[in-house]
Amino acid sequence: MNLKYLGHSCFTFELRGKKIILDPFITDNPKNPANDVEGIEADYILLTHAHGDHVGDVEAIAAKNPGVELISNFEIVSYYQAKGLAGHSLNIGGKFKFDFGTVKYVTALHSSSFPDGSYGGNPGGFVIWNEDVCFYIAGDTALTTDMKLIPEMCPPLDFAILPVGDYFTMGYEDAVIAAEMIDCAHIVGCHFDTFGFIEIDHEKAIEAFRTRGKKLILAGVNESISTK
Ligand code: NI
Ligand code: MN
Repeated sequence: MNLKYLGHSCFTFELRGKKIILDPFITDNPKNPANDVEGIEADYILLTHAHGDHVGDVEAIAAKNPGVELISNFEIVSYYQAKGLAGHSLNIGGKFKFDFGTVKYVTALHSSSFPDGSYGGNPGGFVIWNEDVCFYIAGDTALTTDMKLIPEMCPPLDFAILPVGDYFTMGYEDAVIAAEMIDCAHIVGCHFDTFGFIEIDHEKAIEAFRTRGKKLILAGVNESISTK
């Protein structure tokens, strides 16, 4: 499977021909100057939680993609439904079969409020699977033993997107332990380098994974990633 990294925690990918964007934060990302939000095509927008660095461009993308559907928690989807957007409001532990695959909304240990102060419900992550692939998107989270449940609840993971930047989320040292807990050798890092607090030493991070027999990919902004 191919992912495109748009910086911070934003990725685009296609499943069964459906275009999906995760946590769009492009316009205000200081590390993504080539911010072509206008050109983004999306059938679905996945939102892990309500913080501004994950929902910044939701409305701009929805304006250009009138049929787009949000997938997130009840509070986040309700917030955008009040603005005229459509969505699917899962809650922690629930899953639903979409036309591109099954999505399960899973625990994340973090917080979730909108930039305007509105309540954003509990933050979460996603496990997504269909006949071709299964992957975990942790969202902003600390390391938590709940991650051990993912291999029990879901098909074997082909890869996982984990935050590695520390300060607001777990750092790469904890992300290595997370990779062990979810039984996954192929990790794509996110939530690093965007702001001063979350700049990381790439070599040290990659080496920390390598010594545990795991591979960490730290993509550049607007870079394509092959997860195989
Ligand atoms: Ni956050
Ligand atoms: Mn964040």
